[in-house]
Amino acid sequence: MKLWDGRFSKATDALVDDFNSSIFFDQRLYKQDIEGSIAHVMMLGKQEIIKQNEADLIKKTLKEILADIEAGKVEFDVAAEDIHMNVETILISRIGDVGKKLHTGRSRNDQVALDIRMYIKEEIKNIDLLIKKLQEVLLNIAKKHTETILPGYTHLQRAQPITLAHHLMAYFEMVKRDRNRLADTYRRTNILPLGSGALAATTYPLDRHAVAKKLGFEDITYNSLDGVSDRDFCIELLSNLSILMMHLSRFSEELILWCSLEFGFIEMDDSYSTGSSIMPQKKNPDVAELVRGKTGRVYGSLMALLTTMKSLPLAYNKDMQEDKEPVFDAIDTIKMCLPVFTAMIDTMKVRKENMLKAAKGGFTNATDAADYLVKNGMPFRDAHEVIGKLVFYCIQNGKSLDDLTLEEYKKFSPVFEESVYQAISLEECVNKRNVIGGPSKSMMEEVIRKSEEYLKS
Ligand code: ARG
Repeated sequence: MKLWDGRFSKATDALVDDFNSSIFFDQRLYKQDIEGSIAHVMMLGKQEIIKQNEADLIKKTLKEILADIEAGKVEFDVAAEDIHMNVETILISRIGDVGKKLHTGRSRNDQVALDIRMYIKEEIKNIDLLIKKLQEVLLNIAKKHTETILPGYTHLQRAQPITLAHHLMAYFEMVKRDRNRLADTYRRTNILPLGSGALAATTYPLDRHAVAKKLGFEDITYNSLDGVSDRDFCIELLSNLSILMMHLSRFSEELILWCSLEFGFIEMDDSYSTGSSIMPQKKNPDVAELVRGKTGRVYGSLMALLTTMKSLPLAYNKDMQEDKEPVFDAIDTIKMCLPVFTAMIDTMKVRKENMLKAAKGGFTNATDAADYLVKNGMPFRDAHEVIGKLVFYCIQNGKSLDDLTLEEYKKFSPVFEESVYQAISLEECVNKRNVIGGPSKSMMEEVIRKSEEYLKS
């Protein structure tokens, strides 16, 4: 027995039931579905579309069904296709004809659009909290490392000295924008589609604003075709989550490099590392690698839904049932990645000595040596050339710029004086970059202060 079989003379083939059904994955929308139905039915009662006592009975029974689902007492039926018709079928089995009035002035098309919006709204809030937690941990580590010098890289070649605080706070800024993007998507998801009906709204005098208010929606959709058939908010969400994963994958990649013997900048805690089944010496950064790997899967969800939606004519098409699994999978993936990633960086050990050694070994103060000549009157291009030659000399003689004697310096330019040593000390190189956004201790402290305020707000 199906809720729509009046015009059919044959039962659906079992293969079609299996193929058509979405209950295996959309059952997780049960809470949103029931909450939405309650708001709808209370409005029907208030508008005298159905009797108030009927609305009350439906509401009471829906609440009982919700409790039963949560207690694991409900078995869903593939033949009832999806969560919407499963709930309605159970309702009718419990209260008979009155239950049949719930779907007045509504279609599954606006119902499913409502449910998925409600679901996404809730999950955006959850994900936002998880990102915030990551920011808190980043900020805490940064606070301890405003003087921990390491090389900053371009082309993965040592470039200029920065601090660990500066490096980590770059990721803080990236995920801050991720939170902003999610908040933006939240605004556009926070619009009630219910009342759009199947595609052309309804003849009943619905009070859509009342339903919106009851369910915590900011506004209602203004075109019923659009209300039932766009999924741009799902695509936005997947796009935002893809960008977030892209950020986490870059971070992961760096951590993987940093905990290699070649870098030795950090050590992962044993509880966030894994061993090898054959090589006894191995300690692998699996967590970071998996986060990097799962990025592909989230991108896949974005591509899947973009492709599903491409060229679909208005309004609802069954293709759109394919929106749910990518959205659910991406949300689940992010919700797994963020906490474990955050805990992993919270527990990692920083090997300051190795960071400093790397900064010293890579001529990261060469720019500052050139700037020293500029500040003493030499045009920048000439200074660049002089220091380039000096670096070449150092490489040939196995020295760093700091190791050279003043006589050696003077062979390359008479402008050099004793003061050059101070000018090219790594601390000086970092702290002279005293522009907001730069790595100097005082600027980092200011940014950290601002970031703390931001986290509190
Ligand atoms: N399970 C369907 C979905 O997820 C619900 C909407 C079905 N509407 C329809 N006209 N068949 O899209």
